[in-house]
Amino acid sequence: MIRSALMNVMTAAAVKAGRGLKRDLGEVENLQVSIKGPGDFVTAADRRAEKVLFEELSRSRPGYGFLMEEGGAVEGADKTHRWIIDPLDGTTNFLHSLPVFAISVGLERDGEMVAGIVYNPATDEMYMAEKGQGAWLNNRRLRVAARRDFADALVGCGIPPLARAHLHPRFKVELSSVIAKSGNIRRLGAASLDLAMVAAGRLDCYWERGLSAWDMAAGIVLVREAGGYVSDADGGDKMLESGSVCVGNETMQRSLLAALRAA
Ligand code: IPD
Ligand code: CA
Ligand code: CA
Repeated sequence: MIRSALMNVMTAAAVKAGRGLKRDLGEVENLQVSIKGPGDFVTAADRRAEKVLFEELSRSRPGYGFLMEEGGAVEGADKTHRWIIDPLDGTTNFLHSLPVFAISVGLERDGEMVAGIVYNPATDEMYMAEKGQGAWLNNRRLRVAARRDFADALVGCGIPPLARAHLHPRFKVELSSVIAKSGNIRRLGAASLDLAMVAAGRLDCYWERGLSAWDMAAGIVLVREAGGYVSDADGGDKMLESGSVCVGNETMQRSLLAALRAA
C-alpha cells in the first residue's frame, strides 16, 4: 500500500463516490426490465459521483484545478496541480449492469501525471500509483506481466461504438493486423481498467484510439509504476493530446506498436 497523505485523499474520495455508484448499480439492475430503461438514471448517477469527487477533493486540496468528463475544466488558484477525473468509466457496462466500470482520478503536477487511482466499487478493487511509490492493487504490489512472445499475448483493445462509426475502418485494419500476430484479444469496456489490468499483469498489452484525457490519466501512472511502457498508438508521447495509447511490458509494447504500424 502507499501510505501517503495524497493517496489517502484520493482513495477516500473514490470510496465515497463509489458507495453511491454501487447502490445505483442495484437500481440499474431493476431498471433493465422497465420499458423506459436505465438511461436517465445512469446519467444522474454519473453526475452524482462526479459531484462527490469534486467536493471531497476541493475540500482536501483547496485551489487545485479540475478537468472532469461531465463538468469540464475548472481553473484553480494553484496552477501547478490539476485533477483529471472520469467519475464513471465504462458507462455502457454500468448501463447494462455489467460490473466492469471504475472511478478514475489522476493528478497532474506541472504538466506531468504523478498519481492515479482506478477504483471499481462493484469488486472493491482499488488500483493506486504514485510516482516513485509503485503501483498497487489494494495491498498487493503490481508488476506488468513478464511474457515476451507476442504470439502468447492477451491484448486489450477498445472498439469504437456505432455512434463513432467513422473510427471503424482504421480499427478494423489494426485489429486484423493484431489478431494475425498475437495470442488473443479482449475488450473490457472501460479504458481505465484496461490500463489497470496491464499494470496488474492480467493483460499483456493494450491499445485504443479515440480516448479522452480522463480515460487514461490515472491508468498511465499505474502502468508506468508497474514497470510498463507507455506511448500513444503511433509510438509518440502525446497520449492525452492524441487520445490514443499503447502499453505493455517493454517487448510487448514494442510488438503491439509494430503490429499497429503494419496495419
Ligand atoms: C469509455 C470507456 C470505453 C472506451 C471509450 C470511452 P465512458 O468511457 O473507457 O472503454 O472504449 O472510448 O469513452 O464513456 O464509459 O466514460
Ligand atoms: Ca471514460
Ligand atoms: Ca465516463
